Amino acid sequence: MGIRLEDDWSGRNRGGSLRRGLYGLLAVVLALAGTVLYVVRQGEVLSGEQVSRCGKIEPLVPKFKKSVDLILHDAEFKKSSVEKLSKAIQIATEIWDVNPEPADDPEWYAHFYEFHRFLEQTFPLVHEKLRREKVNELGLLYTWEGSEPDLKPMLFMAHQDVVPVNKKTWDEWEYPPFSGHYDEKTDLVWGRGSNDCKNLLIAELEAIEQLVIDGYRPRRSVILSFGFDEESSGPLGARHLAAFLEDRYGKDGIFSIIDEGFGVLPIDEGLFVASPITAEKGYVDVIVTVNGKGGHSSVPPDHTTIGVASDLITVLEDNPFSPDFEIDNPLFSLLTCAAEHSSRLPKDLRKHILRAPKSKTSRKMLEKFLSSDIRFRDLIRTTRAVDVFNGGIKANALPEVSTFVVNHRIDIHSSVEETVAADAHFAKKIAKKYGYGFAINGEFSIPETELGYIDVKFSEALEPAPISPTSDPAWNILAGTIQDVFENGVFANRDDVELYVSTTLMPANTDTRYYWNLTKNIYRFVASILDASTFETIHSVNESIKASSHLSAIAFIYEYIVNVNENA
Ligand SMILES: *[C@@H]1O[C@H](CO)[C@@H](O)[C@H](O)[C@H]1NC(C)=O
Ligand SMILES: *[C@@H]1O[C@H](CO)[C@@H](O)[C@H](O)[C@H]1NC(C)=O
Ligand SMILES: [Zn+2]
Repeated sequence: MGIRLEDDWSGRNRGGSLRRGLYGLLAVVLALAGTVLYVVRQGEVLSGEQVSRCGKIEPLVPKFKKSVDLILHDAEFKKSSVEKLSKAIQIATEIWDVNPEPADDPEWYAHFYEFHRFLEQTFPLVHEKLRREKVNELGLLYTWEGSEPDLKPMLFMAHQDVVPVNKKTWDEWEYPPFSGHYDEKTDLVWGRGSNDCKNLLIAELEAIEQLVIDGYRPRRSVILSFGFDEESSGPLGARHLAAFLEDRYGKDGIFSIIDEGFGVLPIDEGLFVASPITAEKGYVDVIVTVNGKGGHSSVPPDHTTIGVASDLITVLEDNPFSPDFEIDNPLFSLLTCAAEHSSRLPKDLRKHILRAPKSKTSRKMLEKFLSSDIRFRDLIRTTRAVDVFNGGIKANALPEVSTFVVNHRIDIHSSVEETVAADAHFAKKIAKKYGYGFAINGEFSIPETELGYIDVKFSEALEPAPISPTSDPAWNILAGTIQDVFENGVFANRDDVELYVSTTLMPANTDTRYYWNLTKNIYRFVASILDASTFETIHSVNESIKASSHLSAIAFIYEYIVNVNENA
């Protein structure tokens, strides 16, 4: 996932709030499970009947499921699986914030070439039956040609790269970060990439290797697309792979996309909720520059450009974006699962969640509840954070220019334009207040004055992702497969466990940001149980994954390929 360490040593830090946002999401779950109690005020008369949004989905049992039991329960298979994942982790495919074009600097990418050789040796049948192409040198594209070429292919993504490990933290790891050590006692495989996301990449290849062993031949083509710089936003890998695929298959030419994302969350005793991510917030950096006049600071104006910029920053911080909670927010589905099936949810909160689809009052109460908590509120509004400030160079010289950067994560119902306009609105107000001119992207709506002007620009703009459907065949097959893998597979011998399928959203972006044109049906999901302790290690010290969780991810890919072929 595109999230970064708080104390990123490599400079540009896109990740602070992403990481907080992800923790926030997990905190939703923990809070709902009753570790913290929230009271939503009662009072209004509620209307409307209760609408269930977390009903039990029928498991979709594939006719062809030759190796599902083997994958989930066979000791030999597990041993060899763990070994494959472990070896993948041992190849340190670290990626930095700024990376050269692969063709220009093979040395920089030596570990990636080694990784490719490892894949060839480890998955011989994949490399025999599937066509492998390299896009921009290192992007890996595998195509398993289906018997019916007119059907849209299904596409699985993952990324080869991992976030670097800070040398200063190496000795804080229980086992070294590139050891791939397997600890039988805890069932954990250790190392950078064990959870993000060599696990998924290896699971996809392993599921297909097994299907080939089993003599399976898909009707529908299966494509694997592995970028190599997801952790620096994918400009060299995913961007090229997606363009290549759009060129080959056309707009809307893919059946569905599965990429890294969320997993299965334990939210209460015996209660699990699988949560594919069906939406991502947008992103934009707004750059504000206050252009003033220089001069000797013995005869200063009332306000220097630093003073004017500071006033604007205060105004921006004092006027946050309003919360905007609609029931199409994927988070609502997760909340509904908790409301319907967790016994520990506060009564009033449960009532408002269940009534929200029909009652405006309940929706408002829920919005109030979500926005009153720092861990939830950023999932239902656009955020604004001033992350860079520059002004002045010398104690006795007036600062001619002061500039700052405001980073935004855009609410799923908003847009880049609306976000930039909101900042510009306040910037223009401040320009008027101090007698400055005002421009957006160099276009003046107030001419420059003798004091100067304020200029607003933006960069790195990414609209919120389209919300993926949850009521069409592609979703039904996905949800039914998840239900089957867990209900009839992972939890087959446990009568005390229930699993429901919901959705959620992410404040960060995966490589799918480049793939929107290929299909509406983008689901970011790894079929692994994500408990709080392993979750917290992603991008951090002690990254690790339960081997059993890796096996369920393999079983899911195996079954999903078959189920799509049998049902669509
Ligand atoms: C990593 O795990 C070890 C062993 O459990 C523990 O002592 C250490 O504190 C952990 N490091 C961090 C940063 O959590
Ligand atoms: C998607 O299609 C639109 C319209 O043709 C195009 O402008 C855009 O660049 C495409 N997006 C990507 C990520 O390629
Ligand atoms: Zn990732």
